[in-house]
Amino acid sequence: MASVEYRNVSKNFDQVKVLHDINLTINDGEFVVLVGPSGCGKSTSLRMLAGLESVSSGTILIDGKDITDKHPKDRDIAMVFQNYALYPHMSVYENLAFGLKMRRMDKADIDKRVQEAAAILKIEMLLDRKPKALSGGQRQRVALGRAIVRKPKVFLFDEPLSNLDAKLRVQMRSEIKKLHQTLGVTMLYVTHDQVEAMTMGDRICLMDSGYIQQYDTPLNIYNEPTNRFVAGFIGSPPMNFLSVQRKNGGLLLGKNAQPFTGYDIPKNMEKAEIGIRPEDLLIAKEGASATVELIEPLGSELYIELNLAGESVTGRFAPDLKLQPGDKINIQFREQKVHCFDLESGLRCPN
Ligand SMILES: Nc1ncnc2c1ncn2[C@@H]1O[C@H](COP(=O)(O)OP(=O)(O)OP(=O)(O)O)[C@@H](O)[C@H]1O
Ligand SMILES: [Mg+2]
Repeated sequence: MASVEYRNVSKNFDQVKVLHDINLTINDGEFVVLVGPSGCGKSTSLRMLAGLESVSSGTILIDGKDITDKHPKDRDIAMVFQNYALYPHMSVYENLAFGLKMRRMDKADIDKRVQEAAAILKIEMLLDRKPKALSGGQRQRVALGRAIVRKPKVFLFDEPLSNLDAKLRVQMRSEIKKLHQTLGVTMLYVTHDQVEAMTMGDRICLMDSGYIQQYDTPLNIYNEPTNRFVAGFIGSPPMNFLSVQRKNGGLLLGKNAQPFTGYDIPKNMEKAEIGIRPEDLLIAKEGASATVELIEPLGSELYIELNLAGESVTGRFAPDLKLQPGDKINIQFREQKVHCFDLESGLRCPN
């Protein structure tokens, strides 16, 4: 059993408050991803849980026990960083065994754990090699192995894949997810990459400027973002935003105040911002007129940049669509998929 709970946790560096009253519960065995822009407080949150950073106020609990002031080595946590320096003069085996040796574990037990971890990570044949004779992905696996041999209650990852090239990232991403399925251990994973967050997390904790913006399953975050920030952060290409205002019972769309039927904002609003994901723009016989500006063929689909009511929006369409820059098309929005945001608070209006 290893649940984690942040209870009203705040963090100041000198006079500057960088985390505000964080409340977050991670269930036993859950894979939670902390995601958000640079500087939002992801690493600091993780480091406080590991005991590498003090907590300014509030409590952190593991399995319901207050560990806020416990020494890092008494927390039963293993952390994998972006810069996972392996010891260059030691073999892979010695790198894996080192932490256990320092804990004075007996030799036979160390060997058992190292062999187990090597089998899980499929690096048995590399145990005699030095790190310089490994590929980037193999080195990353050894770094994971150093955490696995410790059999911690909780695994922490801080951007462990950012040093790898794009292809290897995708491969290691699925390996870490499989590792989670194999071990069934609680994992907390930090990234600023929203694709990593969506594909890996049981739940995503999306942060901005030291505040939790939304904590939910990937699909709920995608389909029901609480506010404009969340809506714009998750999704690639990102959600399109257009200003709208009510006029004579209809809507005026975008900078050009182009009349639009086919969607209405809540009755109590005069102005709002609407958000539509690229896959929810539809080409129709009738609708808002838009001009094709740029076509990006991806093979499996097309991204098309359109000028709609004086604003640039991106649509996602089938790859066989025959269009050219300058063509005029009519656009509708997929019903039920238009989000409406309050201009002042940025909150999403209930549908
Ligand atoms: N030791 C420190 N002293 C002062 N300020 C710090 C210190 N460590 C972090 N900060 C500040 O705290 C805030 C949160 O930093 P943190 O490293 O947690 O961000 P992050 O979300 O991990 O960002 P990144 O994606 O760039 O790694 C930032 O504004 C940062 O400048
Ligand atoms: Mg960080």
